[in-house]
Amino acid sequence: MLWRPGGCIGTSSTITVNGGLVPASTLLLLDADPASAEVIRGVLTGVGYALNLAQTGDEAFHLAGDHQLVIIDVVTGPRTAADVCREIRQTPALSAVPVLCISQSDDVEDRINFLEAGADDVMAKPFDARELEARVEALLLRFQRSRDLAPASIQDPSDRPLRRLVTCFSPKGGVGTTTIAVNIAVSVAERRPDRTLLIDLDRQFGQVATHLNLTIRNTLADVARDDAALREPELLRSYTTRHESGLHVLPAPGSPEQAELVGGEQTERLLETALTAYDSIIVDAGSQLDDPVLAALDRADGVIFTVHPEIASLKALHLLLEVLADVGSVGAKATFVLNNAFAREALKMQAIEGALGTRIATDLPYDPFLYLKAVNEGIPVVRGAPRSAPAERLVRLAAIAFGEDASTGVAAHDDKERRAKSRFGLLRRA
Ligand SMILES: Nc1ncnc2c1ncn2[C@@H]1O[C@H](COP(=O)(O)OP(=O)(O)O)[C@@H](O)[C@H]1O
Ligand SMILES: [Mg+2]
Repeated sequence: MLWRPGGCIGTSSTITVNGGLVPASTLLLLDADPASAEVIRGVLTGVGYALNLAQTGDEAFHLAGDHQLVIIDVVTGPRTAADVCREIRQTPALSAVPVLCISQSDDVEDRINFLEAGADDVMAKPFDARELEARVEALLLRFQRSRDLAPASIQDPSDRPLRRLVTCFSPKGGVGTTTIAVNIAVSVAERRPDRTLLIDLDRQFGQVATHLNLTIRNTLADVARDDAALREPELLRSYTTRHESGLHVLPAPGSPEQAELVGGEQTERLLETALTAYDSIIVDAGSQLDDPVLAALDRADGVIFTVHPEIASLKALHLLLEVLADVGSVGAKATFVLNNAFAREALKMQAIEGALGTRIATDLPYDPFLYLKAVNEGIPVVRGAPRSAPAERLVRLAAIAFGEDASTGVAAHDDKERRAKSRFGLLRRA
C-alpha cells in the first residue's frame, strides 16, 4: 500500500528541517504495524517529507531504489527486520540509499544486530519525534554529500552499453522469441541490476511474466493510461516489477481489451522515457507487426529476429524483411538467431542463410527438456542452468545484441540485392 502513489517520487525542491536545507526527499517506511506507521508518518510528513509505506520486506526491497532513504520499523513474516536491512545493504544498486532501522526495544544486542546487518543508523523505541527528524536529516545530508563527491561512480557513461534498446521479433509465434528476450534481459540485468528493463510488447497474450514467474503489480496498460508515467523516468520505474536478477519488467496487459490501450504513440513515448530511466532495454515484440511493434523496431539500436528452421517461417521472415526494407532501415541493425527448435537438423545453416539472403549471427542448440523446464518453473536457463550450452549461447547473444561482443560481425547487412537473389526452391532439396 502506498500513501502517495507514484506522482511524488523524485521531487527536486528543498525544505527547511531543523534549520538546515535538505532536498524534499521521498522516504520509504517498511512497517507491518499500522499504528506505529501512522506515528512515524505524522512526524515526517509534518516536516515536509513525502513518505511511502511498504508492508512487507519484498515490497520494500522492490521500492527502495526509488527513494532517498529507507526506514525499517516493524517486520513480520519469516524474515526479520535485520534480514531485510542486510538484503538491501548487500545490493550494490541500492548502495546510495541509506537505511535507518528502528529497534523495538532499548536492548543493546538488538541494536548491534542491526549495525552488523549494515544499518546506516539505528534508533530505539520509544523515541522522541525530534530525534527521528534529526536522524533522518543527518542521514540524508551524509548520503547527499557522498553522492556529490563521487558522481562519476554513480553514472559512469563508459559503463553504458554501445546499443541500448534491443527489440526481439519473429513473424511467427511459438519459435522462441520470448525465450531469447527473457534470457538476454536477465543476462544483461545480472551485470546491470536495476538499470535494465524488459518490456513485453506482445500485448494480447505476452508471457514474459510467466517465463520469469513474476507476480504482476502493474502492466503496460497501466503505464499507457498514465500520461505522467510516459513522461517522467522515476514514475515509469515505479510501475515496473522487479525480478530477483535485478531486471525491471513491464508485463503485457493480459487481455485483448487492455492491449488496445497501448498504441503506437504511447509506445514511442514509453521508449523515449525508458531510455532516460534505464541503461539497457529489451523489448519482446512478439509476432504481430502493428504500430507499437513498428515503433519498437524503429526506435531500437538493435533488432533480434528469431529464425525458425522451417520453410513457411523462413518465407514469412523473408517477406517481413522486404516490407521493413521499404519502410526503414531495420536490416542494418538486425541480428539473426537460428533457434534449433527441432530434435533433428532439417535445414542446413548455409541453406537458410542463402534463402534469407543474410548471415546468421549465432544459433541456439535444441534441448528436449531445459527450455521447457525453464518456462514451467519460471526460471530462465541463464539462471536455472547457467553452465548449459543454451545458457552459454544466450549470454553470448546478449553481448552480441548490445554490441559488446567485438569478435562477431554483429549485424547482418541490409542487403536487398542479396535477398532478391535468395532461392527458396533450393531449400527444399537442402
Ligand atoms: N531451442 C529450443 N529447443 C527446444 N525447445 C525450445 C527451444 N527454444 C524454445 N523452445 C520452447 O518452445 C516454446 C515456445 O517458446 P517461446 O519462447 O514462448 O516462443 P515465442 O515467444 O516465439 O512464442 C517454449 O516451450 C520453449 O521452451
Ligand atoms: Mg512469445
